Amino acid sequence: MLGILLGLGGTSYVIASFGSFLDTVLWTASNTLRLSGGAYRRRIADPVAAREGRKPSTMERAGERSGGAANMKAAIYTNYGPPDVVRIADVEKPVPRDDEVLIKVRAASVNPLDWRLMKGKPSILRIFFGLRKPRLGRPGVDVAGEVEAVGRNVAQFKPGDEVLGACRGAFAEYGCTAASKLVMKPGNVSFEQAASANVAGLTALQGLRDKGKIQPGSKVLINGAAGGVGTFAVQIAKTFGADVTGVCSTRNLDLVRSIGADEVIDYTQQDFTTSNQRYDLILDCVGNHSFSACRRVLSPDGRYIGIGAPHDASMIVILAQMIKDLLLSVFGSQKAVMFIAKSSQDDLALLGELIATGKLKPVIDSRYSLSDAPNAIRHVEEGHARGKVIIDCAPAHGSNPQITQITQMQ
Ligand SMILES: NC(=O)c1ccc[n+]([C@@H]2O[C@H](COP(=O)([O-])OP(=O)(O)OC[C@H]3O[C@@H](n4cnc5c(N)ncnc54)[C@H](OP(=O)(O)O)[C@@H]3O)[C@@H](O)[C@H]2O)c1
Repeated sequence: MLGILLGLGGTSYVIASFGSFLDTVLWTASNTLRLSGGAYRRRIADPVAAREGRKPSTMERAGERSGGAANMKAAIYTNYGPPDVVRIADVEKPVPRDDEVLIKVRAASVNPLDWRLMKGKPSILRIFFGLRKPRLGRPGVDVAGEVEAVGRNVAQFKPGDEVLGACRGAFAEYGCTAASKLVMKPGNVSFEQAASANVAGLTALQGLRDKGKIQPGSKVLINGAAGGVGTFAVQIAKTFGADVTGVCSTRNLDLVRSIGADEVIDYTQQDFTTSNQRYDLILDCVGNHSFSACRRVLSPDGRYIGIGAPHDASMIVILAQMIKDLLLSVFGSQKAVMFIAKSSQDDLALLGELIATGKLKPVIDSRYSLSDAPNAIRHVEEGHARGKVIIDCAPAHGSNPQITQITQMQ
């Protein structure tokens, strides 16, 4: 759309990225809208509102449909804001639709997407998720767990199967999601490892392979190498036989080396865009350097893949940057691609296999209990997680706040 308006040829890069941004927002929003409509919406029930003597919000009409069906604990929020808006409530346990799977969630992981939706920032998100209040305040996307029930059209899974993938509202004891968003969890992969793979793993894999056209011997720089996506990206780039440089802060240099980076750059000491090196591919998970600055260290036909944006970036700033990158891409041999990962069963299965065979070892920053989900989100929002932050959702551990700060490769 943007490209047609501008009337420019050969502009697939940024147009595709803007399109895929909208695709992703609409995909997520469509889940949200479906969840928030009619009987299905009423499954997301919350008797807490009644106990607190206030009117239930749209998403909180507890148990209206089934008159007191089984409940579960879930993280919810009814207003946009900081992690304090998130609380753990009793809501009605969901029931799978025909093409869905009911998962007993064993572990979930936190992504920046969770706090962006919780804060409703950038504001454009509110067009899809609720202008003044979130239509569905149920955080969590990455999930691993056990299948408890399947819809009538689901043949791929059966009760008792262990799965990993995507499920909106994953910070809960149970979640329902389309079967097409899940794959079987390999037996030797832990639930925590499995829960870390979806968003971060898919983004790293698709960014390097599909958008970055990574090849054996490619010189690759990963900006933000110590984070959720970065720790996957360093390892995945190595499986492709690339020469990898990771950019991180001083305290994470050893971690990034330990997961396979050939070179590390401490961003507190050196600006990588001023180095003498040339890279075939830059995967930028931070977004603190413009494409024009990165071009200085890109090879003549190098690619810059942008996946991240600064915490407080407004949509105007992001769009202005995209248009500028588009123009530079069109008139130069170096290309900029902004992209958003897509759900893919094949890619999820590949990630599971890489983890099962030890070629990919998810880095776990810390573990939180479900009751401490607000602090897990806060930790990621602070922007310095080392790998993935896990929420243990198994019911037996759901009542006491419990944090385990462990940075290790599992
Ligand atoms: N496009 C997509 O499909 C997609 C998918 C997933 C994520 N994302 C976006 O990608 C970005 C990264 O996601 P993530 O899950 O990796 O986030 P994350 O885990 O929260 O990233 C935290 C990491 O960023 C590093 N960092 C912070 N400032 C840095 C700097 N100036 N230079 C280098 N590293 C820096 C931190 O390292 P230090 O502690 O060493 O500073 C920390 O390890 C986010 O903006 C997220 O919204 C996009």
